[in-house]
Amino acid sequence: MIILGIETSCDETSAAVIKTYGKEKKVKLLSNVISSSISLHSKTGGIIPEVAAREQVKFIIPVIDEALKVLKNPKIEVDAIAVTVGPGLIGSLLVGVETARILSYVWKKPLVAVNHLFGHIYANWIENGKKEIKFPAISLIVSGGHTDLVLMKNHNEFKWLGGTRDDAAGEAFDKAGRLLGLSYPAGPEIEKLAKNTNKDLYDFPRPMIGSDDFDFSFSGLKTAVLREVEKIGIINLKEENKINISYSLQEAVFDVLIKKTFKAYKKYDAKSIVLGGGVSASQTLTDKFERFIEKNKLKVDFFVPEKTLCTDNAAMIASASFYKYEEVSWKNLSANPELYFD
Ligand code: KG4
Ligand code: ZN
Repeated sequence: MIILGIETSCDETSAAVIKTYGKEKKVKLLSNVISSSISLHSKTGGIIPEVAAREQVKFIIPVIDEALKVLKNPKIEVDAIAVTVGPGLIGSLLVGVETARILSYVWKKPLVAVNHLFGHIYANWIENGKKEIKFPAISLIVSGGHTDLVLMKNHNEFKWLGGTRDDAAGEAFDKAGRLLGLSYPAGPEIEKLAKNTNKDLYDFPRPMIGSDDFDFSFSGLKTAVLREVEKIGIINLKEENKINISYSLQEAVFDVLIKKTFKAYKKYDAKSIVLGGGVSASQTLTDKFERFIEKNKLKVDFFVPEKTLCTDNAAMIASASFYKYEEVSWKNLSANPELYFD
């Protein structure tokens, strides 16, 4: 089966083509084109939804066109079109959804509606020839918009265990980065700065680390960073301060993510842990997970998507549509910015 995936839930415009192998349930990536309006947003320190959607209107057709170049005759070869319907920014989602509806109508091909969060999870199943991902699996989706823990009993049985009550982990990095004068998105820059030390000088709070649920809260960390920046004075902020604050912030966020994920692993006796979302592109985070497993001699397989598949992309949407194939008529497809786990 050949699936065209389309993703426009935030500031990326992406299209991808995957080939699936029914019997082995494997996904091969044929193309994955991503166009981002990030350079526009780095000037404003964050995403302006209107700006993102306008850019996506410009890019959606060229991006799909580029992704389809791997096929000789897309109109015949494509078996299904998968598109993100939510959650996300409504203007952005509409660009992808309306384009997918038109393609489905004109090509007379089935349409599959995909939840963006499932997409982040299924990035782990792309070209995964290494090891089978065994169930039950605990999935941590950690990005700029989401921090969620999900129990996967199988492809059709998901249980949302908990999530952030306020800011997402990536959002905490982006907001703190703004206070430190870093460009958007700040996560990768914070990781780079933090590599210059190994001293946790600030000892920021670990919000909700001991709570008896699977929820998170990261908004207080932004305030904690603000307090330190104010103490130093924004004009006195030196590289050394940025390094130390970045390191301590990262430690605080990652300590909580690790504690809660392994708590879920233990409770549900999981065989696998799968990460997904932009923050899982952090090598520091994946190293911490691996070290924790090794140190505690845990019998669990750990999976993280390739770096380019951690942040938003259409390949993960196509992959999710294969494992959770729910056809919908173009007449009934609509964007749902509020969509969560159903
Ligand atoms: O998945 P994604 O592209 O978009 C959302 O669905 O939110 O994730 C973007 C987020 C941003 O907050 C960015 O700062 C964070 O992922 N991020 C990182 C790293 N790379 C991206 N955070 C920490 N370390 C990184 N290396
Ligand atoms: Zn995302």
